[in-house]
Amino acid sequence: MEKNVHLKIISELGNIDALPTIPQVVLRLNGVLADPNSSARDVAKLLGEDQVITTRILKLVNSAFYGYARQVKTLTQAVVILGFREVKNIVLTSQIFDLFKSSHKNIRDLFDINQLWTHSVGCAVIAKNIGERIRYLEPEALFIAGLIHDIGKVVEINCIPDKMPDVFRTVQEENISMIEAEKKVLEVTHCEIGKVMAEMWDFPQLIEYVVAYHHKPSLSRKFEQEVAIVHVANCMVRMLEIGSGGDSLIPQIDPFSWERIGLDQDTHEEILTHSLEAISELLPVFQMS
Ligand SMILES: [Fe+2]
Ligand SMILES: [Fe+2]
Repeated sequence: MEKNVHLKIISELGNIDALPTIPQVVLRLNGVLADPNSSARDVAKLLGEDQVITTRILKLVNSAFYGYARQVKTLTQAVVILGFREVKNIVLTSQIFDLFKSSHKNIRDLFDINQLWTHSVGCAVIAKNIGERIRYLEPEALFIAGLIHDIGKVVEINCIPDKMPDVFRTVQEENISMIEAEKKVLEVTHCEIGKVMAEMWDFPQLIEYVVAYHHKPSLSRKFEQEVAIVHVANCMVRMLEIGSGGDSLIPQIDPFSWERIGLDQDTHEEILTHSLEAISELLPVFQMS
């Protein structure tokens, strides 16, 4: 992205204080996980300080999504069973979920942010499933990338709530996609805004590229496979009519991305069926209150 576009975005983000900051628990957890002497008990002790995270991890590890036969009762047990990396992913998921909870009253009547969370969980599950099917090395990374691909919309809703009603109205009146309406009204898209956010949060480059290029995968010069997977997952979740990204149009799958992933029609349908089940198991764990 051009530097002046960056500057424009930052100045457009009227209420910069409304930008979410990196949660302390994620930073501290990174420290504990980076220490080779850390035990499952150390991780459990840190996470145990946060009641919300504790409850979510136990709920998740005991859900059908993970499918363990025995009931997991303590955090230490959960950390042992899930492993450090998976626990970190769950904590991240949990923190990302919290970002989706706030929504300005200006927008509530025009757009339900719960729908965006549902859309993001759907995209995450499908991206992970595609990764598993094509034997991608780290499908969990695709899950996080899918969960966060539309983070720019969350930033928009929180930082420029006065401008967003116009965007949603333009979507409805002109029956165009969110991204087209953003270009018209804001002159900047959720992909560009999300990229700034991903940089500020020091997210891995993979996330940055997915956030920036999930609508234009052929323009990505790095992580082409990951961007292609999340692009396809984003289109597939719309086909399933799960959640909403802010408009009611089903985006077209980019043929080069489809080819790059190499799914055949049968596998495609299996992924859809399998994902539907996984999404309905996962959503109740992260319920908006
Ligand atoms: Fe998007
Ligand atoms: Fe999306």
